Amino acid sequence: MGARPNFMKIAPVIDALSGLGEDVGQTLVHTGQHYDEEMSQVFFRDLGLRSPDVNLEVGSGSHAAQTAAVMSACEPVFERERPDWVVVVGDVNSTLAGALTASKMGIRVAHVEAGLRSFDRTMPEEHNRIVTDHLADLLLTPSRDADVNLSREGIAPERIRFVGNVMIDTLVRLLPAAAALWPGLSDRLGGLERGGYALVTLHRPSNVDRPESLKAIMADLAFFAESIPVIFPVHPRTRGRLEAQGGSDLSKYLEMVEPLGYLDFLSLQSNARLVVTDSGGLQEETTFMGVPCVTVRENTERPITIEQGTNTLAPPSRLRKTLHSALSEAVPSGQPELEFWDGQAGKRVARALTEAPRGR
Ligand code: UD1
Repeated sequence: MGARPNFMKIAPVIDALSGLGEDVGQTLVHTGQHYDEEMSQVFFRDLGLRSPDVNLEVGSGSHAAQTAAVMSACEPVFERERPDWVVVVGDVNSTLAGALTASKMGIRVAHVEAGLRSFDRTMPEEHNRIVTDHLADLLLTPSRDADVNLSREGIAPERIRFVGNVMIDTLVRLLPAAAALWPGLSDRLGGLERGGYALVTLHRPSNVDRPESLKAIMADLAFFAESIPVIFPVHPRTRGRLEAQGGSDLSKYLEMVEPLGYLDFLSLQSNARLVVTDSGGLQEETTFMGVPCVTVRENTERPITIEQGTNTLAPPSRLRKTLHSALSEAVPSGQPELEFWDGQAGKRVARALTEAPRGR
């Protein structure tokens, strides 16, 4: 694991493997891709994750430099441990680097959250997904559409196991703790009302790295904030880009705060009238909780969130219009039927690992 969206996905896998008893040893490796207190450490506390056994401390860098740094640093750890499996989650650079290193060393690779495809090669994560999946010996998928994608790419069915959504395991476990934080959190943020604010996150290079694109999105959000209070925990990449633009003073329109921990963020998400995001995980979490979501992207690797969930895609050119129509629509009632998004996916991952035939 290495980056913020990995932590909530690996936690239930670690728990489920621990539940198998002392026969299964685990070495927890943090690559250090994310290293700030609020991008990393806070998640260990909030999720009750034990400290990593190894921290590779690779830090930031270009894609090539970061991926290479993780590979070089992983290799001696894998050599020393010689595990039966290297388990990687999600689609970040650390995922690909861990999978590639292990695979070349002849160590079996299990990929949790396999098979998602945006079919958009301009996204760095799409490269990571495709390569990791083709290297992996065991592909653990969160939804049936992922199985279809993998079959289409010629991956043998015996390597694919539909296990469900591990991130939802963590959400189900921690929703009560997040709910308990609401009164204090709402006070801290100036007296927020349940269902009375929008929550924004943005960090995709396609939205924030080009100054014109970031400027246009921020202008739309400032305009939207005349209709509803907008809370915006700002990712370090986005903060850097905003500062590079001269940090135009948007704080009078938007409540811009530091990135939040898992529990605070989940509490805010569950009570929001609308979530506006370009994150993959938030599309799934809002779908599960029935919170309307506008995704600031042209496409999604998580079509289930649109077909069965509360998600609407809005490329930046349609953002202003989509935000306003999302506010005028009624909040959906009831929860969609999402197969194996049931809090038990980590256990299915552990079972799949123990049942897989030995050797490659
Ligand atoms: C990474 C993942 C992305 C995931 C996101 C969640 C890849 C290709 N991208 O993107 O899929 O959705 O994490 O956050 O792996 N920085 C800090 N502190 C940190 C980490 C990063 O200040 O703890 C800053 C650095 O300036 C860094 C920039 O953020 O250069 C981007 O970090 P990086 O890990 O390269 O990618 P993310 O944009 O976070």
